[in-house]
Amino acid sequence: MKVLVTGSSGLLGSKLLPILSSRGWSVVAVYNRHEPPGLSGVKRVRLDITDTLRLEDLILKEEPDAIVHAAAYTDVDGCEVNRDYAWRVNVDATRSVMRAARVVNAYLIYVSTDYVFDGEKGLYKETDTPNPINYYGLTKLVGEEIVKSSDILYAVVRTSAIYGVAGGGKRGFAVYALERLLEGREVYALVDQYVSPTYNGLLAEAIAEMIEARPMGVLHVAGPRMSRYEFAAALARAVGAPVELVKPARMSDMKWVARRPRDSSLDTTRARRLLDTRFYSLDDSLRMFIEDFMKARGVGGAVQV
Ligand SMILES: NC(=O)c1ccc[n+]([C@@H]2O[C@H](COP(=O)([O-])OP(=O)(O)OC[C@H]3O[C@@H](n4cnc5c(N)ncnc54)[C@H](OP(=O)(O)O)[C@@H]3O)[C@@H](O)[C@H]2O)c1
Repeated sequence: MKVLVTGSSGLLGSKLLPILSSRGWSVVAVYNRHEPPGLSGVKRVRLDITDTLRLEDLILKEEPDAIVHAAAYTDVDGCEVNRDYAWRVNVDATRSVMRAARVVNAYLIYVSTDYVFDGEKGLYKETDTPNPINYYGLTKLVGEEIVKSSDILYAVVRTSAIYGVAGGGKRGFAVYALERLLEGREVYALVDQYVSPTYNGLLAEAIAEMIEARPMGVLHVAGPRMSRYEFAAALARAVGAPVELVKPARMSDMKWVARRPRDSSLDTTRARRLLDTRFYSLDDSLRMFIEDFMKARGVGGAVQV
């Protein structure tokens, strides 16, 4: 099995590469600014995916059996301001990936987002109608449509608020919060924004299973619904820090450029039915995340939850 992964240095890609490599598969890992660590069977290719000619050329030359298209411009406020660039990364590059996947007959997994929804309802099912309220969500939805309206074998995996340790530059809210909690410092977290925080290990395991099982259509793979505050409080408990360090904040306090959905949590019933992958409990996910964090820091030992 040969798998080409875009976004291999991101929050998802950093966990996906070791899982795919441990299955003995051959992996082509596309990155841009942050080189992923060397792993057996993994060929790293530096490529800015806005160079769509090189992107298509790479896929045509490598002829992968499956492609995980996880690269995206994920900075929600950045997308609102740098619209041309957001379109080129999230839309134009997706069209190129789809075109080349069709030529080499690869199964394409397009990783999408809960931000395709407006957040007025929450616990969205795959059959609910998207209605993005920011430019990031719009570009990701157009990417979905490009894949869905093609005649290739595809799956769209929507996920939410990914947390984990990334090899590259991105820290994400969970790592930021964990660092501060371990230093005994306060963390502000939103009481009025609901998401489905997703451990990158769960998402990576599900995608690895999908590469073999090849389900078609849209799947929601995510953790349980909770506010960002509830997530940060659970993280504090998991790491043995005082929960009082987690301070409530509200969406109206944020100096965001782009609007955010109020409740973009995802219903994962379909994915749980179709996949064997274990959807870990919050406690198990947090324990594994903290272990990943400690390992990356060079601190060993199991974590008690
Ligand atoms: N993070 C979340 O909470 C979240 C929630 C829902 C859905 N998603 C979706 O899940 C997928 C994975 O997200 P993530 O959190 O892993 O993303 P991330 O940590 O922000 O990483 C983005 C990845 O995309 C790559 N990338 C960005 N621009 C590129 C370009 N011009 N050329 C080549 N590569 C480029 C980055 O490469 P370099 O770092 O090497 O530059 C990096 O590997 C994305 O499709 C995202 O839309 C994410």
